[in-house]
Amino acid sequence: MKNLTSMIDIQRSPNSKINDTNFDNLVFGQVFTDHMMECDFKDGEWQTPVIKPYGPLSLEPSARVFHYGQAVFEGMKAYKDKDEKIWLFRPDQNFERINKSSKRLAIPEFPKEYFFNALEELLKLDKDWIKKGFGNSLYIRPFVIATEAGVSASAAKEYKFMIICSPAQSYYSGEVRVKFSEKFSRAADGGVGFAKAAGNYGAQFYPTNLAKEEGFQQIIWTDANTHDYLEEAGTMNIFFRIGDKLITAPTNDRILDGVTRKSVLTLAEEFNIETEVRRVSVKEVVEAAEKGELKEMFGSGTATVINPIVGFGYKDQKFELPKLEDSYAKFFKDKLMKIQYNEAEDKFGWRYEV
Ligand code: COI
Repeated sequence: MKNLTSMIDIQRSPNSKINDTNFDNLVFGQVFTDHMMECDFKDGEWQTPVIKPYGPLSLEPSARVFHYGQAVFEGMKAYKDKDEKIWLFRPDQNFERINKSSKRLAIPEFPKEYFFNALEELLKLDKDWIKKGFGNSLYIRPFVIATEAGVSASAAKEYKFMIICSPAQSYYSGEVRVKFSEKFSRAADGGVGFAKAAGNYGAQFYPTNLAKEEGFQQIIWTDANTHDYLEEAGTMNIFFRIGDKLITAPTNDRILDGVTRKSVLTLAEEFNIETEVRRVSVKEVVEAAEKGELKEMFGSGTATVINPIVGFGYKDQKFELPKLEDSYAKFFKDKLMKIQYNEAEDKFGWRYEV
């Protein structure tokens, strides 16, 4: 492997869009910073990463990504503390996961040194786009696409690894209600559910649109075999609080091993909150809601952080959840954000200074 530490090709943008951006009214994932990172895989190796002005790509219409969806991505965030220092949250986890996803999609793994050096250079160049203050962050989207021309249905020999960045506030702008899926699933055993494969997300748009027509914002996938067990939401892992116990489904072939999810489980242990990582059935949750024992539900994910779920639907039943002052959602969001923004001790070594 080449030594890339000093080999990133940096091409600065001659002008910035930052003054045209209204940071008080951001819609998630709509505005992108001035620069992006692009690194090509060809002749059997990753070439020198290039940081260049953000802009369109030129690809052959026959590029494999358009035909066979050979594409994976990640979601990360950068935070700025009161002293203008920039922090990432557990970036090693995202790096490992994108390579795990790549491997499943027959995409060559990306070298760690390339990833961290290029990401740090990109963040330093676009640091003014990271605004201070709880809730402000820079959403980082690394992704890999198969660029080789030709529609033969086999793994490509050419790829692009890219990183683009978007200033972010909250992912959902209002209350979130979810629909338990009766017939749709994210993935089946042996499939690609554990990977952040582009197709896992594209396949959710249709069922989510059906749920939206009924007044829900998200769908909760149920297992492909029986549709009796709750797995994850379209954009987040999912937690249930029954009594004072926190329950979430185990990760497996079908469920994404979310970084926020595993951080919540670690914090729960630290603060002696009883947790159970086990299958959660639709029946159990519906019955608990009917008896008033389902105190809360929340989703966890990088984009959404911790998102309280205020109600859910199953078949033609609709349930509203109590509004708790002392919710676990609020507790974990506060604990996580204080670590992310360098306002609390980082006991587990999760923060990474850029
Ligand atoms: C993230 O939380 O980063 C995700 O990948 C969810 C995304 C589909 C918005």
